[in-house]
Amino acid sequence: MKTAILGSGLIGRSWAMVFARGGHAVTLWDQDSAQVQKALAHIANTLPDMAAAGLIDDADTVRTRITGAASLAQALSGVGFIQENIVERAEPKQALFAEVEGLAPADAIISSSTSAIMPSIIFGALATRQRCLVSHPLNPPHLAPIVEICGADFTSAGAVSEAKDFMSGCGMSPIEVKREIEGFILNRLQLAVLNESFRLIAEGYVTADDLDKTIKEGLALRWSFMGPIETIDLNAPNGVADYLERYGPTIRRVGDSQAAAAPWPHAIGAMLEAERRAAVPREKLADTTAWRDRRMMALAAHKRDQEKKAPR
Ligand SMILES: NC(=O)c1ccc[n+]([C@@H]2O[C@H](COP(=O)([O-])OP(=O)(O)OC[C@H]3O[C@@H](n4cnc5c(N)ncnc54)[C@H](O)[C@@H]3O)[C@@H](O)[C@H]2O)c1
Repeated sequence: MKTAILGSGLIGRSWAMVFARGGHAVTLWDQDSAQVQKALAHIANTLPDMAAAGLIDDADTVRTRITGAASLAQALSGVGFIQENIVERAEPKQALFAEVEGLAPADAIISSSTSAIMPSIIFGALATRQRCLVSHPLNPPHLAPIVEICGADFTSAGAVSEAKDFMSGCGMSPIEVKREIEGFILNRLQLAVLNESFRLIAEGYVTADDLDKTIKEGLALRWSFMGPIETIDLNAPNGVADYLERYGPTIRRVGDSQAAAAPWPHAIGAMLEAERRAAVPREKLADTTAWRDRRMMALAAHKRDQEKKAPR
């Protein structure tokens, strides 16, 4: 199938590799053509690393499926799936989609990578809105299989299931957000952890460094291959009901105190910035991002091998 990527920054260029890995032809477009060139160079550098980690078979085959487009009309010609990844503001997205619906084939799925904006806000004014939905990834999607498919009331069930099938075919793990909600599922979970982290640090209960350790040396070890519900099912001898019998009152009490807690102070931003820049200077951020991506590739390869051996 022909696919189009609109907005070729961090997320767009990563989606291009995902769609091409799924066997699709991908056309990249951006309002800034230099971004398309940067994306193509980044993709050419990244695909060999993915092949080396065993995550794709052949870097050259995947790369030749990806090309740049000089215009929006050219990018959208004959496509079956459109993924938008421009700036995270409703108005530019609405304006772009108003143009897109005049240029795209009538049966194309029209999808946004928005992190938090509800599909009814982005697509509500469109005539083709029954084919419109959000496909929200974790950054970078070529290394993290999760994608949240979220339609609005007007999105057809057929479009949701087509999007899920398309994403599965590209090696992603789609979940369905059954009713739209700001932040969808992934960011609501992430933001719950961040809100609590900011409060615990600001109120002097823990340092940022020790809080990070609590996740990476603790909770995330299990969470890298099982979810919080699967986790608690194994944290009491007789399963999840037993767990709630034992710990339910504590969960409720702490939950009440979290709901009643004062908002974290804005000064936490400057404090965390000072601490993080002492650990990773600004000029080292790109190198650190590349290191993170290599770690994610190694973890993805490890998980794939372990999945083959998992009891089912
Ligand atoms: N970065 C993340 O962690 C992450 C994760 C999931 C989803 N997202 C979502 O993906 C989208 C893109 O984020 P990103 O991190 O790739 O941003 P980015 O700044 O890296 O890329 C955005 C690209 O869009 C282009 N652009 C901006 N406005 C445009 C317009 N009106 N028309 C055409 N092109 C335009 C820019 O030139 C740029 O190349 C956002 O909606 C964001 O919320 C981001």
